[in-house]
Amino acid sequence: MSQTILVLGASGQIGTELIEKLRTVYGSAHVVASDIRNGSPSLMNSGPFEIIDATDKEAILTVVKKYNITQIYLLAAMLSATGEKFPHKAWNLNMTSLLAVLDLAKDKYINQVFWPSSIAVFGSTSPKIQTPQKTIMEPSTVYGISKVSGEFWCNYYHDKYGVDVRSIRYPGIISWKTKPGGGTTDYAVDIFFKAVEQGSFECFLNKNSCLPMMYMEDAVDATVQIMQVNADQIKIRTSYNLSAMNFSPKELALEIQRHIPNFTITYKTDYRQAIADSWPDSIDDTKAREDWGWTPNYTLSKMTKVILENLVAQ
Ligand code: SER
Repeated sequence: MSQTILVLGASGQIGTELIEKLRTVYGSAHVVASDIRNGSPSLMNSGPFEIIDATDKEAILTVVKKYNITQIYLLAAMLSATGEKFPHKAWNLNMTSLLAVLDLAKDKYINQVFWPSSIAVFGSTSPKIQTPQKTIMEPSTVYGISKVSGEFWCNYYHDKYGVDVRSIRYPGIISWKTKPGGGTTDYAVDIFFKAVEQGSFECFLNKNSCLPMMYMEDAVDATVQIMQVNADQIKIRTSYNLSAMNFSPKELALEIQRHIPNFTITYKTDYRQAIADSWPDSIDDTKAREDWGWTPNYTLSKMTKVILENLVAQ
């Protein structure tokens, strides 16, 4: 069956690049981008675009009917660092949007949903190294609480109403086309821009804060892949652990220095350090590899080379 896709939160870091990929795979006319704000000119000019507040179920339904949408990718969310400043807003955006989309699937307006979870579901009581798929999840951030709760809502709608919802626990996503906003892993994007523009970077995490990370191209590929496999391959309806690379600010800086030898980094930690401290160093993603064939393509060194080449050429 041919799919017509709606992406909510398309103007953000992941949405911008996911739309590019989806329009290549499914054809531009079949991929509707939407956000509460305008996106980049290329996002808005390469296919249909609609302004939608992702918490407004009726607004989503109007667009679903207008384009005969079959799948929704829900990327609108408030991330971990901003969520700590606006806890109720974060909860409202992250939960209301998810329940709206799950309800549209339950009522058969659409037949498939993608919703991202995060490494933020884990907390300081989870095993830190190679954090298992199933383990203690006691998050300390509002964002993490919303993601754990969302995972169980997804599982509930699947079990109770047969909703085909699929999810990945994204690590920190590193990109160079669109900057992220409000996350704890954002330093690992900013560092590249500052390295090229200024030759130096002040990091808000300490030098040894190791976190799971992934290059955008791998994240986008994983997202398209999990939505394309047969439903019986998706054995986990909460969310899949997904892993590609793990590094600390110090390790990332050393990698950048291989290309920009004079690059310097200093450290001045803030409230985001406590968030990073509560998250895993590395993730065990065996289930994603076994169930639907996930493998990443980018290592830290390959990613660093590609990003710096692109930023220097800009
Ligand atoms: N990148 C996100 C954040 O830092 C984690 O999912 O909030």
